Amino acid sequence: MRITVFGRGNVGGGLADLWERAGHQVTRLGHDGGDVSDAEVVLVAVPGASIAEALDRLEGLEGKTVIDATNLYGAVPPDGFASNAEFVRSKTNGPTAKSFNINFASLYGRLGETRVRPSNLWCGDGASREVVEQLNRDAGYDPVYTGPIENAAAQEALVGVIFAISEAMGPCVYRFAPPAHL
Ligand SMILES: NC(=O)c1ccc[n+]([C@@H]2O[C@H](COP(=O)([O-])OP(=O)(O)OC[C@H]3O[C@@H](n4cnc5c(N)ncnc54)[C@H](OP(=O)(O)O)[C@@H]3O)[C@@H](O)[C@H]2O)c1
Repeated sequence: MRITVFGRGNVGGGLADLWERAGHQVTRLGHDGGDVSDAEVVLVAVPGASIAEALDRLEGLEGKTVIDATNLYGAVPPDGFASNAEFVRSKTNGPTAKSFNINFASLYGRLGETRVRPSNLWCGDGASREVVEQLNRDAGYDPVYTGPIENAAAQEALVGVIFAISEAMGPCVYRFAPPAHL
């Protein structure tokens, strides 16, 4: 797959490494943005509070499949939107998903050490499902669907719980599965 990561830091750069290892072709964009016309999917991994100004620095977004990995700490989504993911969709009018926001980038290098594949949550448009689930698996996660894009605000808010757990136990991965799969 031709992937462009917007934000090439812990999340964007870390996932780019994992996806390249899985055979994907990845372009990495930093603060200055760039043209994403050639991408089959765009990962947005910039500071969550900067989402509006950041997306203005991308060209070729119309109709793209986008995965939004941002979180908001002490900030709110752009005016009129319940979540950053819904704001992203308003800019692209394409298949949009929220994913990779509820796992620590610092553990990307250790995903192969777990007894079972860790879960990674995603919500969003049905048209993004195949790409999002494939990229979850290729990064080392088992994708767990949390519903339509309207659930992105809940998935963004979950980061507070993840931080609380991390304070108690250190950075963790997690697993959601029906009992028969445990
Ligand atoms: N770190 C985690 O474990 C984690 C986990 C889940 C979700 N997240 C979320 O993922 C996003 C990225 O986190 P990160 O830890 O990867 O951050 P990071 O390492 O600081 O990387 C941020 C990236 O965004 C770019 N950037 C910074 N300000 C920007 C702006 N105003 N407009 C456009 N691009 C900008 C930087 O560009 P340059 O390369 O040019 O400096 C850099 O490539 C955040 O929303 C964060 O909340 C983080």
